[in-house]
Amino acid sequence: MCGIVGYIGKKQALPILIQGLRDLEYRGYDSAGVAVLDNGKIERVREIGKVDMLAKKISNVIARSASDEAILPKKETASAYAKASADRSAALAVTLTGTIGIAHTRWATHGAVTEFNAHPHIVDGKLAIVHNGIIENYRELKKQIKDKNFESETDTEVLAKWIMEKYKALSIKYKGEDKANLLIDAVKAALVEVRGTYGLVVLHADHPDQLVAARLGSPLAIGIGEGEYYIASDVTPMLPFTKKVTFLDDGEIALINGDGLKISNLDNQIIEKNVTEIDWDQEKAQKGGFENFMLKEIFDQPTVYEDALRGRLEMDAGTAKMGGLNMSQEQMREIKRVMIIAEGTARHTGLIGKYAFERLANLPTEVDFSSEFRYRDPVVNKSTLVFVISQSGETADTLMAAREAKRKGAVVRGIVNVVGSTIARETGAGTYIHAGPELAVASTKAYTNMVAVLLLYALQFGRLKHTSLATGQRILQSLLEIPEKMNEILKRNNEIKEIAEKYQKYVNILFMGRGVNYPVALEGALKLKEISYIHCEGFAGGEMKHGPLALVSKDVPVVAILTKNQLYEKMKSSIQEVRARGARTFIIASEGDEEAKEVADEIIYVPKTMELLEPLLNTIPLQLFAYHVAVALGRDVDRPRNLAKSVTVE
Ligand code: M6R
Repeated sequence: MCGIVGYIGKKQALPILIQGLRDLEYRGYDSAGVAVLDNGKIERVREIGKVDMLAKKISNVIARSASDEAILPKKETASAYAKASADRSAALAVTLTGTIGIAHTRWATHGAVTEFNAHPHIVDGKLAIVHNGIIENYRELKKQIKDKNFESETDTEVLAKWIMEKYKALSIKYKGEDKANLLIDAVKAALVEVRGTYGLVVLHADHPDQLVAARLGSPLAIGIGEGEYYIASDVTPMLPFTKKVTFLDDGEIALINGDGLKISNLDNQIIEKNVTEIDWDQEKAQKGGFENFMLKEIFDQPTVYEDALRGRLEMDAGTAKMGGLNMSQEQMREIKRVMIIAEGTARHTGLIGKYAFERLANLPTEVDFSSEFRYRDPVVNKSTLVFVISQSGETADTLMAAREAKRKGAVVRGIVNVVGSTIARETGAGTYIHAGPELAVASTKAYTNMVAVLLLYALQFGRLKHTSLATGQRILQSLLEIPEKMNEILKRNNEIKEIAEKYQKYVNILFMGRGVNYPVALEGALKLKEISYIHCEGFAGGEMKHGPLALVSKDVPVVAILTKNQLYEKMKSSIQEVRARGARTFIIASEGDEEAKEVADEIIYVPKTMELLEPLLNTIPLQLFAYHVAVALGRDVDRPRNLAKSVTVE
């Protein structure tokens, strides 16, 4: 999600920047731009769409400039030449030659996908910035900025002007040698008052030998070459040039100039950094060093989950505030029913949402396959709130179902990952889950963030009448503790791998869960079947003796979720039933539950959390289990047979 590239050195910056953007394309984006400092002037080109389109636009602009040079009046009169030449440089003369520059691929968050919103943003023709992340207090900053001429709707332009104001204020004070630190000090002074996240790079026309880079929450790597430096969101763009890399940590800011690289924090303390020798090739680098995208995306979860919560929790009021809901409290009280429509993994998150809406908000909630919903006669009206959930935002059945619900007068809201996708646009209001680009066909991190967003919505409705302040605050506190607990589970990756290798030989595997862990069982089965091609089904524990028990034998193992919640004893009985029929059992249990071992051939412990939040944790070992079984079987984990990431046909 969003990519940054910067270069300072002796080579022409443009080709390095464009190739760098191409190397970051895998992250996903909807527009791109580049700025080069050319003879004291910042030249910029931006374009919506692919980097190829940006490159084409740059070629056209440069060609036009060159041909204008050709048609400039022969120096008949000095004044005619000077005028034509000045007009040309003002309007067109973009050559983008220069050895310092910055570039960006943007995934829209604040503001639509337009050229004006694309980065780099430039202030007063002097200061250019590229930025990843979200400036949460940009509205407050905007009010304080004197220059009210905003070209874009972005938080980044606000940040750029904010830095410029600090720069102007400091430049009055700074004399002589101080000037070398003017730019970095201005950036520091600005960032001290910023709330939110950033990875950013700044250049200034009056500091032609400097780049300033800073990080809080959005990664930045700095590649160290011979008298040159590369900056990027990950190491991919710099690997053809250097393997020596240092990574900025949160709160750090780098000044890169003729003297080298100096890293400090916002309190001006100098920080000595290690330089790492990277031995990855580019493909491996795109996967963050993981073997494939699915594993990377599983490990991304603690980080991107925080993005789903960011700016949406109101701790004092024990509630959530989902900006995309766009409903007054009065309108929210008019809602009498909730319907959740989705496919595959997204539908499983809806099933979890059902438990949350019914328990917290006392709202009857129904979940359906989009493909079924659109062809039945769903009873919805203006008091029905319909959530359509989709990672891609392009799933044809879900899109059609959303249109059908709208046609019938329901209140329709999207819960979507891909910004600017059709469902996001057509539902108008709704929420982005901020999971970042999910490239593996098997959905993992999008699942987690969908669950998080549904829990927040349920809490927001719940706090209107049914859920107490204390419960609301307990839920928020527990939500905040989730990333650390996810990391605990991810540390057990090797244990899970060993277990998975024992299960690769089976032809059928069943998954069992109850309550909020029933959808977790469905998700575990879906994950394993789609990437391993082993036949898997998920069942509700209490349903086993109504049919599925007939499938169980010593050749059909059962994966069961037995965490300590109100259905613990019931679930344990169901597991005993399958064991009595010879099934091997792999159990997901709560940390410290020694008793669970009695019904387990294999066991993985997960940290405890509130029951409604359990799916955020309990699904992760099942994702890793599916992954390792598939790898052991030699499957193409990221691109399983017969499946597509985005199902745009019925
Ligand atoms: O893009 P969507 O969330 O609308 O996609 C829905 C399903 O196609 C998707 O979840 C699918 O089931 C995944 N391959 C599951 O891992």
